[in-house]
Formats: sequence, structure tokens, C-alpha cells
Amino acid sequence: MTYENIRLEHDGAVATLTIDRPKALNALNNKTLQEFEAAVKSLGADTRVLIVTGGGEKAFVAGADIAEMSALEEPQAREFAALGHRAFALLESLSIPTIAAVNGFALGGGCELALACDFIYASEKAQLGLPEVGLGVIPGFGGTQRLTRAVGRARAKELVFTGARIDAAKAKEIGLVLEVLPAGELLAHCRSIAAKMIKNGPLAIATAKRVIEQGADKDLGEANTLERQGFAELFGSDDQREGMKAFLEKRPAVFTGK
Ligand code: HXC
Repeated sequence: MTYENIRLEHDGAVATLTIDRPKALNALNNKTLQEFEAAVKSLGADTRVLIVTGGGEKAFVAGADIAEMSALEEPQAREFAALGHRAFALLESLSIPTIAAVNGFALGGGCELALACDFIYASEKAQLGLPEVGLGVIPGFGGTQRLTRAVGRARAKELVFTGARIDAAKAKEIGLVLEVLPAGELLAHCRSIAAKMIKNGPLAIATAKRVIEQGADKDLGEANTLERQGFAELFGSDDQREGMKAFLEKRPAVFTGK
């Protein structure tokens, strides 16, 4: 499939999805979101980690496309928000690890895209924020909810109410970004993390991701039940047998994801 505003590249088990409209700082218009959704849907079982990043030197994604949004009336705005929510929920529902490589501006919808990934690594020149209130609107692709879950209500309110851009170091300090890398090392870092992950059992990672995500909104008792069930269910899988056998035989495991 050929895309106009994104690129999807496969390097073995690692896929990299690049939002690639650098002239508009990779702003998300309708077409870009549709292509993003189609690309995520197209990922096969051979993809074990997805890295999301931005094309060009300046931006990860500078937000939803303001020129396109400025012409919307309420019904179209509802549809546009629904499209973004659907696309990011699809990303979040993947059973594989997803990494945001934030290489520059991640504002508004761009910050919301990063928040829909499992975790964020940022380059030293990244700037993150939710500036929507300065445009007379609020975040509309999940930012109010995912940012709050990521950094807590007070920090999320501070960022949303001020619309302020924060640099990568500050984003790390508040727990929004895991690590800050020199710009030239960001993707290599993400790939090295991906390489570590793909050595591990895919079924185990998928189960860990599922119980972490499903448990996050539950009380501890219910959440721990999910973990116990997930742990037990992995027994009898080829991956569990192979992983433990390989350890006892002092050799690397060869996982099949079954
Ligand atoms: C459309 C955008 C854009 C955007 C940048 N561009 N951001 N076009 N939508 N979100 C375009 C500019 O118009 C310009 O086009 C080109 O990209 C380069 O941008 P400049 O502003 O000239 O660059 P610079 O001076 O370096 O400033 C960078 C910037 C600024 C600080 C990132 O562009 C900016 O503030 N952008 C908007 C950020 C924002 O408010 N995002 C939130 C959007 S609302 P030309 O043609 O002039 O070269 C949102 C809602 C999500 O995301 C939920 C929806 C439901």
C-alpha cells in the first residue's frame, strides 16, 4: 500500500511508522489520520515492536491540522475527534510494544499520539504540550485523559490550562518521557530497546501488556486477579516450555509466539 503522508517501514520484526508531512510539521489532517489507521491495521503477526516518529528535522507531530480544523462545524468536529480517538485506540490495542520516538515538536494531537504509545523517548530538542486552549478548544484525541493518567491530575491541569510547551528534560522530570537522547541517537536508542524486547517471549509480552493496561483502572485486588490469571494461562504455551527449557539447557530461547 502506498501512502502520501506517512511511511511504514519494516526492519525484521521492528516496524517504524513515520508521520511524514514535514512542510506542515507533520500536522494530522483527515487523510493522515486515515493513513495512520490503515497502516496500524496492516501490521501482521511478524511485527513485534512498533516505533512511531515524525519526518523531517523539526517535528514529531505539531498537532491536528489547524487549517483543516478551522473550517469545521460541530458535526464534522465530532467526526474528526472520533477518527483520532479510533486511530489512537487501535494503536493502544496492539498486543505488541509501541514506542514513541519524539524527535521534535509534539504538540496537541502530536502529544496525544505519543501518549497513546506504551512509552516515550525524546530527543533533546523535543518540545511537548497541549496548546489547544490557546485556540479556543480542548485536546480532542484523548490528551485530557491519557495525560492525566500519565502524570496525575494537577500536572495535567497545569499543562492543559497554560497550554505551555515543556522541553524534554522537564517532560522527563514529570514522568511523561522515559529518557532524553541526543537527536542523532534517538532512533538508534529506540531500536536497541526494541531489539531487547524481541528476544523475549511474544505471548508473555502481550499478556504483560494486557494485564498492565486492564489492571490500571481497577482496584488492586481485581487487578492482581488479572495478573494471576495471565501468569497461569501462559503455562502450556510453546513459549513457556521453550523459555524455561532453554534456561535449564543454558542456551538462548527460540520463541514462536505460540
Ligand atoms: C497546520 C501547521 C501546524 C498545525 C505548524 N504548521 N503546525 N499547520 N496545523 N498544527 C505549519 C505552519 O502553518 C507553517 O506552514 C509550517 O507548518 C511551519 O510552521 P511555523 O509555525 O512556521 O514554524 P515555527 O515558527 O518553527 O513554529 C513551530 C510551532 C508552530 C511552534 C510548532 O508551528 C505552532 O505553534 N504550531 C501549532 C501548534 C498547535 O497549536 N498544535 C495544536 C493544534 S490543536 P507555512 O505554510 O506557513 O510554512 C490539536 C487538537 C487535537 O492538535 C484534537 C483534535 C480533535
